[in-house]
Amino acid sequence: SVKKRVVSGVQPTGSIHLGNYLGAIKNWVALQDTYETLFIIVDCHAITLPYDTHQLGKATTDTAALYLACGIDVSKASVFVQSHVPAHAQLMWLLSASTPIGWLKKMTQFKEKSRKEGAEDASVALFTYPDLMTADILLYQSDFVPVGEDQKQHIELAREIAQRVNHLYGGRKWKKLGGRGGSLFKIPEPLIPQAGARVMSLTDGLSKMSKSAPSDQSRINLLDSKDLIVDKIKRCKTDSFAGLEFDNAERPECNNLLSVYQIVSGKTKEEVTEECKDMSWGTFKPLLADALIEHLSPIQARYQEIIAEPAYLDKVLSEGADRAAELGDVTMRNMHQAMGF
Ligand code: ADP
Ligand code: NA
Repeated sequence: SVKKRVVSGVQPTGSIHLGNYLGAIKNWVALQDTYETLFIIVDCHAITLPYDTHQLGKATTDTAALYLACGIDVSKASVFVQSHVPAHAQLMWLLSASTPIGWLKKMTQFKEKSRKEGAEDASVALFTYPDLMTADILLYQSDFVPVGEDQKQHIELAREIAQRVNHLYGGRKWKKLGGRGGSLFKIPEPLIPQAGARVMSLTDGLSKMSKSAPSDQSRINLLDSKDLIVDKIKRCKTDSFAGLEFDNAERPECNNLLSVYQIVSGKTKEEVTEECKDMSWGTFKPLLADALIEHLSPIQARYQEIIAEPAYLDKVLSEGADRAAELGDVTMRNMHQAMGF
């Protein structure tokens, strides 16, 4: 039987942080045994906001190395760089012809990010980015897309675009979709984790942890040193309630830090509730910092090994791109035919 397919990616903008890891990458690792998986370093998404051209290449390599360091196994998964497979941009153009402007205008991420840029100065790419993300997913006839909570709206859009294209152009049975006959495009489903879907900033407790937040203090990067992790946790925002608890709407920081502790320590929510209910922040913070360091140290060690072997990484990415191009080619041929080219 044909394995169901999983596709996801992270942008190589700045450092990969705990939100990317807990919301996305950590969950990819669990999927690679069951599904055919493609994990992309989405560099074409990294140019929608002003960026440093001298950093893009290094950030791309670092992100790839971190995927492997986090446990992505290239004997099971395909890992590749988006710009190495031109079909992403080509399919995006075709999909954009079936995307009403009004659908893109509804995207909250665009509204937030373009407001920061100044509405009229934001790039067209920032506006059409969800179309490229849709192409990333549909190109491979993906069944599932594991993402954090912030991407839910973009996946919903991808589903709507797929349905619209199927309706407009997919009037006959398509047989060559890698053994997945049926409609022109599969309708993808998001996979959003139970815990870790929305890791919050360490400094304000209200916004999500993000690469683009100006303060590095607001996030734990996967490659932060032990001292830096201790320092960031020591200084992170807390509250003055007694004891620690999950799910109190008045204590978003507390819920966030306990959730992070729960995942990195591998404990259950019940165990953490019991362990921490009478704790002070002064007792909990070193415990959390230690758990983070213990969880991230092996990832950092593997990262150092991988990054020291650029020829190996190049080979992995080149093989990944070949596999992706082969799969994407089937979709592109069907799409061109369906649209009358
Ligand atoms: P960022 O928003 O940090 O630039 P990306 O847009 O590259 O990150 O997102 C890569 C993946 O990481 C997506 O699946 C996204 O949902 C997830 N992600 C990003 N930030 C967080 C967060 N704070 N909590 C949980 N998941 C997140
Ligand atoms: Na994001």
